[in-house]
Amino acid sequence: MNKIAVLTSGGDAPGMNACIRAVVRTASYRGVEVTGIKRGYTGLLAGDFVKLNRGMIANIIQRGGTILETSRCEEFRTEEGRLKGIRILEHAGIEGMVVIGGEGSFHGAGAVANESQIKVIGVPATIDNDIYGTDYSVGFDTAINTALEAIDRIRDTADAFERVFFVEVMGRLAGFIALEVGIAGGAEEIVLPGKEIDPEELCHTLKESFKRGKRSSIVVVAEGNAVGHTVQIAQYVEYRLKVSCRVCVLGHLQRGGAPSARDRVLASKLGIAAVDGILNGKSGHAVGEIKGDIVYIPLHETWNHKKDLDLSLLESAKVLAS
Ligand code: F6P
Repeated sequence: MNKIAVLTSGGDAPGMNACIRAVVRTASYRGVEVTGIKRGYTGLLAGDFVKLNRGMIANIIQRGGTILETSRCEEFRTEEGRLKGIRILEHAGIEGMVVIGGEGSFHGAGAVANESQIKVIGVPATIDNDIYGTDYSVGFDTAINTALEAIDRIRDTADAFERVFFVEVMGRLAGFIALEVGIAGGAEEIVLPGKEIDPEELCHTLKESFKRGKRSSIVVVAEGNAVGHTVQIAQYVEYRLKVSCRVCVLGHLQRGGAPSARDRVLASKLGIAAVDGILNGKSGHAVGEIKGDIVYIPLHETWNHKKDLDLSLLESAKVLAS
């Protein structure tokens, strides 16, 4: 194999650059040329390619975002779009491709692997950590630490004012961020996506904790499908308990910033394994890490199975908040 490509796609995640670096360094070490595809599948369809060499990926391991830029590409969801993309890749002499992204990106990767001779491996990178087949995805560790730092700061002002703070974290469909941040941030209550919260029960929990002498409380809420649901919950609690409530939406703050050590290491390991997988003839797989071991899992399994939340952590959160 002479030439492989690498792209980042979907929501950016801290550690994507560390992964690009690992892909380029590993391929160069093995004597393989690397083409960077700009703006994910959108750039692929536009033939927006750049030759990557060691110099171009120097000094990026610590940078958030992605030097290749990213997008969510509707056209690549169509058969026509994918065939066009495959023709462009073949024309450019690309024999292998590393796709760094989340589930949506993996669908595109799987289609290229199925419909061409190009060897494709996906690297799970999303702050949501909702990809089946790996314990952690690149970006998750940084995101939860960023959210946690914010919560620690919010706690100071919440306590000073005797307030309840509702902190909205990312994860429209997945509650991994909310759960971990809730536990680590000492939240009184954690609201997960898709799980109805009984506002009366929440008021009861908060009332009890005030009775026990707590001056302030933090409630971690995963962003839901309905915009503004965190505000609605906060307004309800303020009205019912006559306590001062505030909402803080952390939003895209959680996606930026320098990747944590954990994310840099994970991204580096998975980047190496992706290139080596391709060079060993693997295709149509995602590379992940389970209990410290590098594993390759068929791409279709990553979307056919749902990664389970450890709901016992919710119980633990209740005990710890008591
Ligand atoms: O999938 C990553 C993620 O950050 C989700 O947590 C969030 O719901 C979504 O992307 C936000 O997407 P956008 O950047 O398009 O607003």
